[in-house]
Amino acid sequence: MSAFREIPVTDMTELEAHAELKNLAKEIAEHDKRYYQNDAPTISDGDYDVLRARNTAIEEKFPHLKRKDSPTDKVGTPVQSGFSKITHAVPMLSLGNAFAEEDVQDFLDRIKRFLGLKDEESLEIVAEPKIDGLSISLRYEKGKFIQAATRGDGRVGEDVTRNVLTMKELPLELPAGVPDVVEIRGEVYMAKDEFMALNKKQEQAGAKVFANPRNAAAGSLRQLDSNITAERPLRVFAYAWGELSKPLSDTQMGVIDTFKSWGLPVNPYTRVCKSLADIMALYNQINEDRAALNYDIDGVVYKVNRLDWQDRLGFVSRSPRWAIAHKFAAEKAQTVVEKIDIQVGRTGKLTPVARLTPVTVGGVVVSNATLHNEDEIKRKDVRIGDTVVIQRAGDVIPQVVEVVKDKRPDNSEEFVFPHECPECGSHAVREEGEVDIRCTGGLICPAQAVERLKHFVSRNAFDMDGLGAKNIEKFWQEGLVKTPADIFKLSEHTDTIATWEGWKEKSIANLKKSIEDRRTIPLDRFIYALGIRQVGQATARTLAKNYLSFEGWYDAMTKAHDVDSPAYEDLNNIDGIGTSMAQDLIDFFDEPHNRKVMNDLKDQLTIEEFDVPDTTNSPVAGKIVVFTGTLVTMSRAEAKAKAESLGAKVSGSVSKKTDYVVAGESAGSKLKKAQELGIAVLTEEGWHELVG
Ligand code: IVH
Repeated sequence: MSAFREIPVTDMTELEAHAELKNLAKEIAEHDKRYYQNDAPTISDGDYDVLRARNTAIEEKFPHLKRKDSPTDKVGTPVQSGFSKITHAVPMLSLGNAFAEEDVQDFLDRIKRFLGLKDEESLEIVAEPKIDGLSISLRYEKGKFIQAATRGDGRVGEDVTRNVLTMKELPLELPAGVPDVVEIRGEVYMAKDEFMALNKKQEQAGAKVFANPRNAAAGSLRQLDSNITAERPLRVFAYAWGELSKPLSDTQMGVIDTFKSWGLPVNPYTRVCKSLADIMALYNQINEDRAALNYDIDGVVYKVNRLDWQDRLGFVSRSPRWAIAHKFAAEKAQTVVEKIDIQVGRTGKLTPVARLTPVTVGGVVVSNATLHNEDEIKRKDVRIGDTVVIQRAGDVIPQVVEVVKDKRPDNSEEFVFPHECPECGSHAVREEGEVDIRCTGGLICPAQAVERLKHFVSRNAFDMDGLGAKNIEKFWQEGLVKTPADIFKLSEHTDTIATWEGWKEKSIANLKKSIEDRRTIPLDRFIYALGIRQVGQATARTLAKNYLSFEGWYDAMTKAHDVDSPAYEDLNNIDGIGTSMAQDLIDFFDEPHNRKVMNDLKDQLTIEEFDVPDTTNSPVAGKIVVFTGTLVTMSRAEAKAKAESLGAKVSGSVSKKTDYVVAGESAGSKLKKAQELGIAVLTEEGWHELVG
């Protein structure tokens, strides 16, 4: 124990408090590790509690000195404020979707093209059910289970180690000889029969019943009290991996077999398929068996079997090129359209929403369905009073498929699309060539302002747990938050908030914490959070990758206003940014109030520069490269992916700024232009030599 611990907290100086908090964090973490991970505590529970109490007392006296890694915020605390976060060593990604056989064919063709395989060359695919649960990452070190994390946003998840420890199927130790670090990924789920039994028990106890097994699994895994989790029958299927200190096999199937030999549950349907026909046969079989299975599935996942090919294929934004989820047809039901309302989104789009007589579809009660836009209503001829078929696939918003014309009542009513915003009364206009009708009110439209703020705090943007959509509405109505920067000034208003119903000391502390936690934000998230039209997560990343810093991006976007500027040309040259997207960006920066929003935020935040891959030894880091002509050893997509992973920027056209032009066979005008401008031209071999 440190000498400082003898000082009464009331007499402590800041310096002493700072030093002791640091020591306590370290000491408590060590005890946690011995207790939770090694099962070998070295102090009594009583002594441990004394350490924690001391830590809390110091934090209460010096709240501004509370550490980011404070033991108070960690799992293992008797009273938990939430889960601590774990940054995944390898990000946890999602999957693209296929709905029809043609999509699967496209998927296979795309892979063959990317890898440059001949038509007759075989491409083995591992197929397995897509389990409808939640993904989990299980970390083993030296063969011992040490940590479990949820997917979270893919980069940072929640530490659910203690809850996972209660899962009976999970081996806590792997056989001797496994690599030092093994991260196993899979799906946590609840079996259907066990789900029914749980709900029965819940009902008898007057407790919450769950809508479906997935919700029950999620609710159970994310229980703060692991004693409750222990009573919930959670299971797991292992199907992927994260960090490995040594490869386990050359193939996907080889890894799955290895998992199986280690005693991990793997799905019995997992199989290597050699052709599209093989794949479809397994898909149909799994679909037929679906209802009889004791766990929910929502499709079949296909993965390239060869791992060296998986590596070459890599990723597009958040999904691998080497895998896809083939979804089962959506579940359908019939119900009546009671009325049609208009919702105004953050970009001013007016969306018609059918209000339905509630009906259960695939285990979930549905009472709203989107009608998309004016043309859709006309095309499907949906009238108020109609009976309609609705469908729901996965997490997507339920949709109206068609009207059951036989059931149309005599008094059915056609819907007249408004040309006025129902929220602010401004004109709503449909521009030429557009399908959407938009409110012209901009920020004077409360719906747009509020929706933008909701988007700003949403999970993939600023991800503020303590500040959900409901709170945003309240803060907006009360006038505390009108623009994003106001969120970061909320702590000035805690006295007011404390007078509102339902706001206790703890919820205010949570709110403050989730705001403070986000004062530092990666550039791509920041860009995405602004809610610029057409700028989704992938585009935000592309922009961050190209401009690296907030200042760089801001400066370039402002300059790009001038269509003759190099900045305009650069923006349009970025692969993945089309002219219409570029225009939306320029329009956004043209609006003074948008610039004010960004500058106000800048004063409140630290915007992190884009995390460029470690390219210290890369000869092409920061260089602008253009590929042209037919490449033989790699496809264009693979060439681009590789160049980018080495820190180069790939452009579609040659300009004075281009550093290298890689010319394949029968290169034409771009090669000519490069020669005219005196830019270094490389052959394909030359390129391989350069980058190794
Ligand atoms: S592979 C890099 N295999 O689906 C690819 N995912 O939509 C990693 N899922 O987040 C995922 N069953 O939670 C894979 N057999 C399976 C799966 C599966 C369910 C989930 C997983 C993932 C989501 C993506």
